Amino acid sequence: MRAVIADGAGGPEVLSVAELPDPEPGPGEVLLQVAAAGLNRADLLQRQGFYPPPPGASDIIGMECSGTVAALGEGVTGWSVGDEACALLSAGGYAERVAVPAGQLMPVPAGVDLVTAAALPEVAATVWSNVFMVAGLEPQETLLVHGGAGGIGTFAIQLAHQLGAKVLTTAGTPEKRAACAALGADVTIDYREEDFVAVVKESTDGHGADVILDNMGAKYLDRNLDALATEGRLVIIGMQGGTKAELDINKLLRKRGAVIATTLRARPTAEKSAICASVVEHVWPLVAEGLVRPVVHGTMPLAEVAAAHALMESGAHSGKILLTL
Ligand SMILES: NC(=O)c1ccc[n+]([C@@H]2O[C@H](COP(=O)([O-])OP(=O)(O)OC[C@H]3O[C@@H](n4cnc5c(N)ncnc54)[C@H](OP(=O)(O)O)[C@@H]3O)[C@@H](O)[C@H]2O)c1
Repeated sequence: MRAVIADGAGGPEVLSVAELPDPEPGPGEVLLQVAAAGLNRADLLQRQGFYPPPPGASDIIGMECSGTVAALGEGVTGWSVGDEACALLSAGGYAERVAVPAGQLMPVPAGVDLVTAAALPEVAATVWSNVFMVAGLEPQETLLVHGGAGGIGTFAIQLAHQLGAKVLTTAGTPEKRAACAALGADVTIDYREEDFVAVVKESTDGHGADVILDNMGAKYLDRNLDALATEGRLVIIGMQGGTKAELDINKLLRKRGAVIATTLRARPTAEKSAICASVVEHVWPLVAEGLVRPVVHGTMPLAEVAAAHALMESGAHSGKILLTL
């Protein structure tokens, strides 16, 4: 099969397409003929040598894809050859074929084409698991989403808005803030020029954000605590602003707050499968109704993988970038 290989760790130029052996579906796995693969920020870290795949997973980059079921491993029920699906992967998405634990396979929601479905697994599973399953955002509460115009952000805004929460978000350009508002953000904040803590306080009559979905990590830790409401939950899912910071425990305990950090990729298959099942139950109906939609910046053929990584690194994109096969 054609698959993306990396010639060492480094910039986008280390990536190219080569012929590799087809994967074999093991017991409980499904072999998918890939139609498209989604790019994720973590793919850039893996390419740079900072984010190795979990033990036992493929070396091929790619944490999500869509495609057609090509073969079933021993013991798989509920799927047939020829079914269309999208999948949350530990690795291996940038390839013509990938073996996936059956529990991490999800049907393509009604109204979404097969290629576009590759934009859904990571954002849906990350946002649903963190904002709703872990942080328990309630309809009358306020969510602050950092990086609202990114893949994760565009989905988080829509889902929280549809489920009745007030949504505040940060973004880097006027065009991106307008796009966030169109997706349902009540308040958009220019993270380059504005103090997001002050805007969150002003927009919530001093209450603060009940839940914060944070991609920045260290750089925003202290300001996120300032922006948090009493009994607020800060969920850190990214390290774009570094990994080490001082935590002011006094601020946190006076707010009876929680700081939670999670990663989807390192979770065991059973947990990922439970998250996928919950996404299909709770999120897919909203996608099928057109209330929450995948936001795709653009699609590029697999051979242009280096250019796709360079685009994501530039930050010029809004929503998801997909590789087609
Ligand atoms: N833990 C997990 O399980 C998990 C799963 C998936 C993703 N993630 C993480 O979630 C984050 C987003 O991923 P993605 O795939 O959506 O990437 P993406 O599309 O490249 O989005 C990155 C976002 O970061 C924003 N950003 C950059 N500098 C910022 C700043 N100073 N303040 C606020 N926002 C800033 C960008 O905003 P502008 O475009 O407006 O500049 C952009 O929206 C990444 O950190 C990724 O690693 C974690």
